[in-house]
Amino acid sequence: MNLELLVNGRAKLAALIGNPVGHTFSPYIHNTLSRETGSNLIYIPLQVYDKVKLENSLAALNDLGAVGVNITLPYKTDVIEYVAHIDETAKRIVSVNTIAFRSDGYYGFNTDISGFLKGYSRDIGDDLKNKRISVIGAGGAARSIAFAAALSGASIIYIVNRTLAHADKVVDDIKRQFNVNIFSRPLCSPDVQHILRECDVIVNTTTVGMYPLMGSSPLPPLSGLDKRQVVYDIIYRPFKSALLEQAEEKGCKTANGLSMLLYQAIGSFEIWTGAHIEELLTEQVRSALERLLTKGEEK
Ligand code: ATR
Repeated sequence: MNLELLVNGRAKLAALIGNPVGHTFSPYIHNTLSRETGSNLIYIPLQVYDKVKLENSLAALNDLGAVGVNITLPYKTDVIEYVAHIDETAKRIVSVNTIAFRSDGYYGFNTDISGFLKGYSRDIGDDLKNKRISVIGAGGAARSIAFAAALSGASIIYIVNRTLAHADKVVDDIKRQFNVNIFSRPLCSPDVQHILRECDVIVNTTTVGMYPLMGSSPLPPLSGLDKRQVVYDIIYRPFKSALLEQAEEKGCKTANGLSMLLYQAIGSFEIWTGAHIEELLTEQVRSALERLLTKGEEK
C-alpha cells in the first residue's frame, strides 16, 4: 500500500465555477501542472446552480483560503461586480475567466484572449496582424476571438452568424473598443462563400460539430479555399471536426481548440502560483491531453 497522499495537509485549493462544469478538462490540466511543478495545488470543478449564489460561493472559497477560481459560462460577466481589481483586457472585453484571491481583494483577469493568441501562434506559426478574418458564431467565444483579432491589428473582421442580431451585438461591442473594420453577416447570406474565399483566417466558434453531435459543419461545403488560408475550429471534441476535415482536404492550414484551452489554463495557473510553465512541460501536457481526447475516436 502506498501511503503517499494525493492531497496533503498543506494543499492549496483552486476551483472552476460555472454551470454546467461536468464536461470540463481543466482539472486534468491544473492538477497535472501542479504535480509536475510541485505547486501543491488541488483543482476541482464546482457547479454554482444560480447567479444569486455566485457572491457567496466566491466569499466561501476566499474564506477557506483558496488561491483563486476560474469562471466559466454563464458567469464570466456577472462576476465582475465582485472583483476589486480588474486587468485591462478583462475590463475591455467585460469578461473575467480567472480570479485570484489576495489580501486586498479579488483580482479579475482574462486569460482567454492571450490563450487564443498564444495557441494560434503555436499551431499556425503566425499572428493575426493585417489578416482578414471571418469569425463564425456570435457567442462569448466569438466575442473573445473578435477582440483578440482587433487587438492584434486584423485588417478586417466579419462576424458571420445564424442570427444576425447576435452578430450585430458583437460588432457593436468591438467597435466601442477598437477602430477596426468589422462587419456582420447572416450565415445564410449569398455573399458568405465569397467572404470566406477572401479571408486569410476562418474561425469557427459555434457548437456545430461538437461532441456528441459530430459530423456536421457550421458552413456549407467550402469552395475555393486553398493552402494560403487558415481554418481554426475552437472545438477539440472531436479532435478533428467535420469543418477541419473539409479544410484539410482543401490544403488549408488547420488547428483545433486544444491549444486555446491549454494556454488559458496555463495563464490562470501562473497567476495563482507564480510558477512559469516551460514550453517542454506545456508540450508534454498537450500530448497527454491529445491522447485523452483521441482515445476511442478511431472506433
Ligand atoms: P459560447 O458563448 O460558448 O460561444 P453560445 O453563446 O451558445 O456559446 O453561442 C453559440 C453560437 O453557435 C451562436 O452564435 C449560435 O448561433 P445563434 O446566435 O444564431 O444562436 C451558434 N449556433 C448554435 N447552433 C447552431 C446551428 N445549428 N447552426 C448555426 N449556428 C449555430
